[in-house]
Amino acid sequence: MNFAPVLDLLSQRLGLDPETLGTSSLRAALSACMRVAGCADPATYAQRLQREPATLAALIEEIVVPETWFFRGGDLFWFVAEQAVLARRDRPGQPFRALSLPCSTGEEAYSLTMAGLELGLTPGLLHVDGVDISQRALAAARRGVYGSLSFRQTDATLRERYFRPVGDRWELRPEPREGVRFLPGNLIDPRLLLFEYPYDIVFCRNVFIYLTAQARQQALANLARLTVAGGLLCMSVAEALPATEDRFKRWGPPAYGLYRRAGDRPGRATIPPLSLRPASSTAPATPATEAPLPLTPALPVVSANLLDQARRLADQGKLEDALAACLAEETAHGASADLFALVGVIQQSRGEESAAQDAFRKALYLDANHREALTHLLVLTQNSGRFSEGSGLRRRLQRLGDEENP
Ligand SMILES: C[S@@+](CC[C@H](N)C(=O)[O-])C[C@H]1O[C@@H](n2cnc3c(N)ncnc32)[C@H](O)[C@@H]1O
Repeated sequence: MNFAPVLDLLSQRLGLDPETLGTSSLRAALSACMRVAGCADPATYAQRLQREPATLAALIEEIVVPETWFFRGGDLFWFVAEQAVLARRDRPGQPFRALSLPCSTGEEAYSLTMAGLELGLTPGLLHVDGVDISQRALAAARRGVYGSLSFRQTDATLRERYFRPVGDRWELRPEPREGVRFLPGNLIDPRLLLFEYPYDIVFCRNVFIYLTAQARQQALANLARLTVAGGLLCMSVAEALPATEDRFKRWGPPAYGLYRRAGDRPGRATIPPLSLRPASSTAPATPATEAPLPLTPALPVVSANLLDQARRLADQGKLEDALAACLAEETAHGASADLFALVGVIQQSRGEESAAQDAFRKALYLDANHREALTHLLVLTQNSGRFSEGSGLRRRLQRLGDEENP
């Protein structure tokens, strides 16, 4: 059978190079999926894959390679956790942000939170997003129940500390799950995580080997966008980037496959300044020569008076005055999660939904557990049909509720 139309589609959509998957197992998987879809002709099947997301998703589940395990790469995770501790010393109050892309069943993401916990990075100080194209892998990651093969490189004491036995498997305890989200996404999609702030480290291991040359370029463009200037990219040693790649330069012990993103300070262009002033504000524009912004702003002391005043004004429907009081608070004491959440509420009342969402996101960036911001953002994402983002927010709210009423 000539599978070429299906293989072409797979390389376009996923970037997969069919040669890397083993011809006979790939053919077997394609034949099985075509049978389930009730389709005998590859060209017709390829057309269905084009227009039926569920048919494509079912095929993806059969062909991806989800192989992964905890602490794959050994000391790498301890090394990265140390970097996180050091980075936080330089910018207290700000979480270290990591992305596991692809995360498969979650072992990479949780290895980092376990290493972080061991080094004192309590929940809230480390935030990890895991992204994968396989919904089945993401569901397993969220479940967090693992068999013995996942522990092939894990110290037994760590397994005892962070897992509880369930039959012949092990269930991750709540603490290493804190601050971890799992989201669907395609590594080569230019819109991947478009609204996320760039990360301090991006793990992208054991997937380039399956990609076509063109897909690697697309993936690298995403990795460059998603890694903060001066931040780290982690590839597997077998997937070294070409020496001509000038956005990333080798860094750290060679065995860890680390690269530093070009740029000597956090990218102002990539991280939106956490300022309340809307672009249309009549306030003077920020001078170009102003001192560089830190990666994320330090958490300031909030002035209860100005914030209370802003709240009262908002309650009275004096939205302009309330915003002015917020600006005064920001000028006097800097940004804070409470302040951004209030600005979001005011903007929502003014019907400025996208500005309001932006404000709630900024609040959550400063305080990932800000209940008011989570709740408002959840409603706004649901209203605009972004259900996958909404379900992540709902889970965070549920977790907060579980903590408060254990
Ligand atoms: C071998 S696992 C690697 C997991 C982990 N990074 C590690 O090194 O242990 C490869 C993962 O890549 C995912 N994947 C393949 N193509 C992808 C794509 N285009 N976008 C996102 N994930 C993809 C698969 O679903 C699979 O879970």
